Amino acid sequence: NSNRPNADISHVYRGTFIHSTQQTALQILEDTLLGVDTDGKIAFIEKGAELNQLSQIFGFNPSEVTQLAQHELFMPGLVDTHIHAPQYCYAGTALDMPLLQWLNTYTFPVESRFKDLEFAHRVYTQVVQRTLRNGTTTACYFATIHTDASLLLGQIANDFGQRALVGKVCMDRNNSVKHYKETNQESQEETCRYYLMVQKNTKTPVVTPRFAPSCTGALLGQLGAIAKNNNLHIQSHISENVEEVKLVKELFPESESYTDVYHKYNLLTDKTVMAHGCYLTDAELALFRETGASLSHCPNSNISLCSGMLDVRNVLKHKVKLGLGTDVAGGYSASMLDAVRRALDTSKVLTIQDPEYETLTFEEVFRLATLGGSHALSLDDQTGNFEVGKDFDALRVNVAAAGGPIDMIQFSDSEAQFQLTKDLRQDETGLNRPVSARLKPADDVAAT
Ligand code: GUN
Ligand code: FE
Repeated sequence: NSNRPNADISHVYRGTFIHSTQQTALQILEDTLLGVDTDGKIAFIEKGAELNQLSQIFGFNPSEVTQLAQHELFMPGLVDTHIHAPQYCYAGTALDMPLLQWLNTYTFPVESRFKDLEFAHRVYTQVVQRTLRNGTTTACYFATIHTDASLLLGQIANDFGQRALVGKVCMDRNNSVKHYKETNQESQEETCRYYLMVQKNTKTPVVTPRFAPSCTGALLGQLGAIAKNNNLHIQSHISENVEEVKLVKELFPESESYTDVYHKYNLLTDKTVMAHGCYLTDAELALFRETGASLSHCPNSNISLCSGMLDVRNVLKHKVKLGLGTDVAGGYSASMLDAVRRALDTSKVLTIQDPEYETLTFEEVFRLATLGGSHALSLDDQTGNFEVGKDFDALRVNVAAAGGPIDMIQFSDSEAQFQLTKDLRQDETGLNRPVSARLKPADDVAAT
């Protein structure tokens, strides 16, 4: 019981709250009171019966408490630990090739178009609006190599009230597209310009080497140094596909493993998140554990590009931090609820292959999508569940609503006040599917 009786209360909610803790994958708190202070932080979370006592301690009027309906609940905002914002414009298409071919054929040509800020503005507005509508209150984005468009993505996310970690992508080799390439020097200089601009606006930059095959060892080393000297977040891809792992072996013959490549260049820290990791060995997982680096499990992408299947149980056994990611557009869905379903499916396929396999439970996967993601992005002191002192970052779910069950209430950096967004709809693949005529997926997708 660590209430903060000095807090100035701005909102109090009463009803059902569900969330995860380190100890409990899914905790259901019925008839519970949650108070939010004027900074958007949780001041108390207590049994409903304590109302009178709490109102005296915190000095709020019990008649101003917002009572949730029977069919409503609060859950923490969903955390997408890995999503490519520019790729949203071709999500749901172009999934007929394995990773390396797919990058050269579809991804690089599309990403090169984000030099055009107007195009970037259009797509980035759509991806932020859509992911918010799907309940993603925190997203860790890859942008493109273009610094100004990457800054724009951060600005758009901020304006809509999404907590976004954004990386300007770095790549100085092995690119099929002539104009979508940086020299080593450009990549370094633009990374520095980028992170200084982002930090000036008190937002969160992410040092983003695309993946080892796209970067020379020299660039990886320089990016590792920039991250280390400025204590920055880092994101990249690792061990997604067999061909890629083989290529990394060829490109970095001196390294013991794919993980060792990043480790050598100081890119594995407790602020690092690496996507996929399907083919990591136990020794590599141990190195993740040692360095505090985390993994982003992207099951839709892993299946859609026929990349592989992450053995989540083994990752958890190694106590490696783990969140879920949509990996749009390798993954065709921008919804974290989809990621939850695919994570369960993948675990069940592993169980089909080996009946002894300990299948993930939906409670565990719920935790990966919320607290796990928050932990993986080193945001767990701020978000991920309903603990006193954290930001009240929540989805208000109406399981009975015909028009769309998710309302979102989120602390917004830019306005330092609560936003209550009423017109959110559950994603189009949702279990509590709204009337389909009310959904507008098609007009969200830019023609490419
Ligand atoms: N590896 C390097 N770049 C990418 C990308 O854009 N998507 C996926 N899924 N894997 C990658
Ligand atoms: Fe990716």
